Amino acid sequence: MKSTILIAHEYGAPDVLEYTQQTLQPLALGNARIQVKAAGINPIDARRMTGEFKHAALPQTFGTEYAGIIVEVDETQHTWKVGDEVLGSGGAFTHASVIDVPLANLVKKPQNIDWAVAGSLAGAAQTAMTIFDEIGDIQSLLVHGGSGGVGSIVVQLAVEKGIDVVATASSANQAYIKKLGATAVVYGDGLIERLKQIHPTQFDASIDLSGTEEATQAALAMVKTNGFMGTIAGKKVSSTQIRPVWVKRNLANLQHVVTGVSEGRFHWEVSREYPFEQAQSAYSDILSGHTKGKSVLIFN
Ligand SMILES: NC(=O)c1ccc[n+]([C@@H]2O[C@H](COP(=O)([O-])OP(=O)(O)OC[C@H]3O[C@@H](n4cnc5c(N)ncnc54)[C@H](OP(=O)(O)O)[C@@H]3O)[C@@H](O)[C@H]2O)c1
Repeated sequence: MKSTILIAHEYGAPDVLEYTQQTLQPLALGNARIQVKAAGINPIDARRMTGEFKHAALPQTFGTEYAGIIVEVDETQHTWKVGDEVLGSGGAFTHASVIDVPLANLVKKPQNIDWAVAGSLAGAAQTAMTIFDEIGDIQSLLVHGGSGGVGSIVVQLAVEKGIDVVATASSANQAYIKKLGATAVVYGDGLIERLKQIHPTQFDASIDLSGTEEATQAALAMVKTNGFMGTIAGKKVSSTQIRPVWVKRNLANLQHVVTGVSEGRFHWEVSREYPFEQAQSAYSDILSGHTKGKSVLIFN
């Protein structure tokens, strides 16, 4: 079977992205072969494309999350079968028409979730759940960048836990943040003063999804002594008090969010869908850093 794969032979702007046809090796034990229907795009894909992160040797492939249909499966197991609709994440190769993935990474796709939502769930969901696993029990949380892929579900998980949550976003996304259940604040000049007005008491914790110096300074000013201050942005921070957080893959965590979306308790915003053939545009847009909810590649 052949797969059309997004690939780059050099680092750079989106025009380094190309498509190549590859004949797949026989399916390995413990794996399923998936015809991809949708695959979320994450900032990390574009940051690997530019060479900001050099995790892999060139040529490199892209994409960590997916949803699709099993077209072949390890027949020594009895959990999954050809035709099952699934979603998951792992690796950096899901921006391709057919992919082989470990069975251990699969979650059943609920029928009432459409492909674009299903294909964009796994990365942000597990990142958001990791954040709460690391923060522990809190009653108040400041989120820097609440309107993006990770922020949108961080805010809703905080609300689910009964946490008093304040989230920053651009003025264009204030109503969206409120719809998700947080108190909304515009980031930019004067942020700390606005936060003090809206939330006169200090926060138990903060999480930075934007990687700005402003977020660092606001965390230092607004979080209690010994409170948790984290960042997932993977950028240099000016204070050692801001702790880096890295996603940990965890199927129970993913299932929690999938079930919540399926039952309508979480809203999952997909603001941009692109045909797989238009990956260059998709990567260009995600580099802008202003994605509302998620961006997704759609496969025919
Ligand atoms: N450490 C990990 O394991 C891990 C996992 C996942 C993601 N990440 C990283 O975490 C970051 C966020 O990921 P994501 O998927 O949520 O990104 P995203 O979907 O691109 O969202 C970014 C959000 O940041 C907001 N933003 C832009 N400039 C801002 C500023 N100056 N101050 C505050 N917020 C600002 C934007 O809001 P507006 O549109 O309203 O401006 C946008 O909604 C990325 O850098 C990504 O690479 C790390």
